[in-house]
Amino acid sequence: MTAPNPKDRTWTILELLRWTTQYFGEREIETPRLDAECLLASALGVDRMRLYLDFDKPASPGERDAFREWVRRRADDRVPVAQLVGRKEFWSLPLRVTADVLSPRPDTETLVMAALDRLPERDTDARVLEIGTGSGAVALAIAHERPRARITATDVSRAALKVAAQNARELEMADRIEFAQGSLFAPVAGRRFELVVSNPPYLAESERSGLAPELAHEPDVALFAGPDGLAVLRDLVAGAPAFLAPDGGIALELAPDQAPTVAHWLRDAGWGDVVTHRDFAARARVVSARGPRPPERERA
Ligand SMILES: C[S@@+](CC[C@H](N)C(=O)[O-])C[C@H]1O[C@@H](n2cnc3c(N)ncnc32)[C@H](O)[C@@H]1O
Repeated sequence: MTAPNPKDRTWTILELLRWTTQYFGEREIETPRLDAECLLASALGVDRMRLYLDFDKPASPGERDAFREWVRRRADDRVPVAQLVGRKEFWSLPLRVTADVLSPRPDTETLVMAALDRLPERDTDARVLEIGTGSGAVALAIAHERPRARITATDVSRAALKVAAQNARELEMADRIEFAQGSLFAPVAGRRFELVVSNPPYLAESERSGLAPELAHEPDVALFAGPDGLAVLRDLVAGAPAFLAPDGGIALELAPDQAPTVAHWLRDAGWGDVVTHRDFAARARVVSARGPRPPERERA
């Protein structure tokens, strides 16, 4: 099947959508219709609903050129849609994404919900630390829901932090989030937080060969965490108590099969109120807990 040549004839929106959906289906793209709609809407500079209202409208040659190139890169190179269009919506916030950041996933909204559960009052001025902010999705969603929270968002990747800071500026929340570069707790030495939240890398190196080809376009540092995928989670659980305020909590995203292990580590280390949160598909996706009580002599 050859991609519609813009010079051949007039293509209406409906024709472009039908052709592309079929083509993506043949190329084993997982969500062919959705991807076709997102790419076409972005090439035309409209939202997806507008495509349905303008089904019979012809696309201009310039619009078709941009769309055609995206269709090719989606099907041949397996570039994720978010990277092609440079945007992804998360928690109803429009975010900019590049190849330097993980495109935020709907699953990660479970992490935001778990974090909000641990900060039940909307006007809380709690100090929140997000480790591994990537595009800034989680920090921005929490800032949006808890307007007085004092949020620090870190990442080991400088390039990711640039994207996160740009998203914060564009969403007019730059003055609400402090960004800092460094690994794990290094950027916040000596500080304490009411909540530590993270969606760390949690794939095992051994899984690499079986992964969807789209993941090759996302940063390795956002995906892989040692031979068992638990390396960063392990460091987060071990390191967090020294950075928690009294009664502070933690919320960690993980792979469903890692939830029992991480919940076990937390209980073993004296954390309380250990809760497993499920995503929209009922898979264990986040574990949250309240920090371990310090020994009596430290509290005195
Ligand atoms: C799975 S991505 C999550 C991005 C974003 N928070 C989200 O949920 O969409 C993990 C992020 O953690 C960062 N990261 C990896 N190892 C880290 C470390 N040791 N310290 C801080 N950040 C780290 C990566 O650069 C990446 O941005």
